[in-house]
Amino acid sequence: MKKDFLTVLDLCREEILELIDKGIRFKEKGRRVKRTLVGYTLGLIFDKASTRTRVSFETAMFRLGGQTLFLSKAETQMARDETVPDTARVLSRYLDGLAVRTFSQKLVEEMAEWATIPVINALTDRYHPCQVLSDLMTVKEKKGRVEGLKVAWVGDGNNVAHSWIEAAHVLGFELSLACPAGYHPHPEVMARAGGRVRILDDPKEAVRGSDVINTDVWASMGQESQRKKRIADFQGYQVNEVLVKGAKPDVIVMHCLPAHREEEITSGVLDGPHSVVFDQAENKLYLHMALLEKLLLRA
Ligand code: CP
Ligand code: NVA
Repeated sequence: MKKDFLTVLDLCREEILELIDKGIRFKEKGRRVKRTLVGYTLGLIFDKASTRTRVSFETAMFRLGGQTLFLSKAETQMARDETVPDTARVLSRYLDGLAVRTFSQKLVEEMAEWATIPVINALTDRYHPCQVLSDLMTVKEKKGRVEGLKVAWVGDGNNVAHSWIEAAHVLGFELSLACPAGYHPHPEVMARAGGRVRILDDPKEAVRGSDVINTDVWASMGQESQRKKRIADFQGYQVNEVLVKGAKPDVIVMHCLPAHREEEITSGVLDGPHSVVFDQAENKLYLHMALLEKLLLRA
């Protein structure tokens, strides 16, 4: 039976903890890894820009001896209305796995329904589950554990926030989100959030006593036309030096990148002693190696 990864909820607590540990082991080994995916090909269908996710998935395949095929959606027949079920069935005849970055979560669900190979959500408007897995690996690396921590989210209740909410539910850590009115997480995601997830108005309250502060851009891909209004609406929700002082002294500050410096986060914080943002970016490679082995080898 193939397994897809469309949302954090597709994995149980034990599977997430195992992937994190496996990612850490891959990182320790560097290039001295068994080439377990020789002869395997991962397709990447991307309908949005990407630096980290694309490069880390492609490099993860190469390190494991496999190959990749990058397909900009616009250059496939999907751009000329070939259906998702037909595309999924055709690509399943060539490839061993498919990573999809697009707008609609429904599209990746439909792709997974029709594909006979594992489908990975490489970001949709609703979720960014791969990001949160590698972020949890970074948390484990820095804090020695992922459970029992106090995590804060400051800013937009967006796709990355949604995946953090699901992770808090599966792993049972405390997550306080400070989001302005009108930018709260989606009610469907909140309905499954569990009691350890709180939404607050005040960023200071959300970060008080926290081990981890997380943020992301105020205008995600596809929301560029709202950027001006969003910058106005998010005033007071910046992760800056004053806000970070209200957390634990050893707090780590996370951002999935790309960042808009001096908007959602100051350069002082992004480049400062609490920031782990470049470790987050690096860890995407190792976590993706662990995820690809799990899904493609169907282990
Ligand atoms: N964090 C992340 O997904 O970055 P990219 O958009 O560059 O892939
Ligand atoms: N929320 C951002 C994340 C980018 C990695 C976006 O969707 O654009």
